[in-house]
Amino acid sequence: MRVRVRHAVRGLAGTIEVPGDKSISHRAALLGALATGPTEIAGFLESEDCLNTLRALQTLGVEVTRKGPGQYRIGGVGLGGLQEPDDVLDCGNSGTTARLLLGVLAGQPFGSVLTGDESLRRRPMGRVAEPLRQMGATVVGRSEGSRLPLAIRGARPLKGLCYRSPVPSAQVKSAILLAGLYAAGPVSVEEPAPSRDHTERMLEGFGGRIAVDGSTVTLTPGGGLTGRPISVPGDLSSASFFLVAGAIVPASRVTVRGVGVNPTRTGLLDGLREMEADLGLCGKRDGEEPIADLTVSASSLRGTRVGGALIPRLIDELPILAVAGAVGEGVMEVTGARELRVKESDRIFTLACELGKLGARIEAREDGFLIRGGVPMIGTRVESHGDHRMAMALIIAGLVAQGETVVEDTDCIATSYPEFVATLNSLAPEPCAYPEGG
Ligand code: S3P
Repeated sequence: MRVRVRHAVRGLAGTIEVPGDKSISHRAALLGALATGPTEIAGFLESEDCLNTLRALQTLGVEVTRKGPGQYRIGGVGLGGLQEPDDVLDCGNSGTTARLLLGVLAGQPFGSVLTGDESLRRRPMGRVAEPLRQMGATVVGRSEGSRLPLAIRGARPLKGLCYRSPVPSAQVKSAILLAGLYAAGPVSVEEPAPSRDHTERMLEGFGGRIAVDGSTVTLTPGGGLTGRPISVPGDLSSASFFLVAGAIVPASRVTVRGVGVNPTRTGLLDGLREMEADLGLCGKRDGEEPIADLTVSASSLRGTRVGGALIPRLIDELPILAVAGAVGEGVMEVTGARELRVKESDRIFTLACELGKLGARIEAREDGFLIRGGVPMIGTRVESHGDHRMAMALIIAGLVAQGETVVEDTDCIATSYPEFVATLNSLAPEPCAYPEGG
């Protein structure tokens, strides 16, 4: 599929909701499966990535019932109740499925084989496999056991571990914490900067024993998990495309309601404020995961520096923040974001390549990029490189590029946000994005 995008001359306006948070949906399904008793999930993200997690859990013997749109009942089997899978677990495009599942499987007394699509098979798994080996699991596979397909044979109990992660990664941290549920003693993970903490928050809600001290989180095993209802907030990563669109398309005003604003995820809001975006947050509701309504109005933006501890708080939003940087006046410099190279695509390369085709003055750096903003973009044919966030960021760039932009290879949007184009069009006085060839 491709999407043709027209310059959105008359602005975007309206109030929308975005689908459930992807990271939280994966965790709700996984922890629900390991709990005793049912977990009812409302607002589960029905995108390819999260459906892959549900399918993998079903292959491991977990009963999953769809009760309505976004409403699922996970029949918890308890920590000891997973069954040896009779087939390969295919994680598709989803790094979260692969890495978090590896953590769970490290504690199982049976073998499993995991694979994924072409993009996921390129991504590094050694960062998870290595600490799990240290805990006692056997992980073998391609590239010395660091790329999918991987086979994992768990052990029970696993050994406790104090792990200093070389990268800030919630997937690495979560895999170790999940494996820790099967350990003989505490596991702790220290990160160079705090990454999203949904696993810690949710584990605690299921009755897990979690302690946080700065950038170190410790899980003490024992006691098991108890099923419970979970309501998934709207995904800030999905909302970010509309927040940036509202900020850069002249004469726009967009509200996104019910969005998760966990502080480990709100780096984009800080970045946009630094850029002088007209952005407001209201109706904040505190809970296991804080939620709020966000409103943005178009204004002129300026460049900013993004680096350090802010990076893990907006790592998935850097493609769309780059679009804001191309429109804003002055320089946007992103440093310390080498992790972008191992996402669904090498996002430093793909951003420089595709925004460059639209005329943005963007330079790729080893660990980030530099954009000299304020140069008008001109519509042309660009490609997603099979990366959902690149596809959506390029569609938003197309709204401000002169003439028509054609974004090729947009099927990947379904991995995180199947309704993206329809929701975008609902904000425009007349459709601005036309899917073709689907
Ligand atoms: C995620 C963690 C991040 C993020 C990804 C989702 C998660 O990845 O980029 O989209 O749900 O834990 P890393 O752990 O590789 O930083």
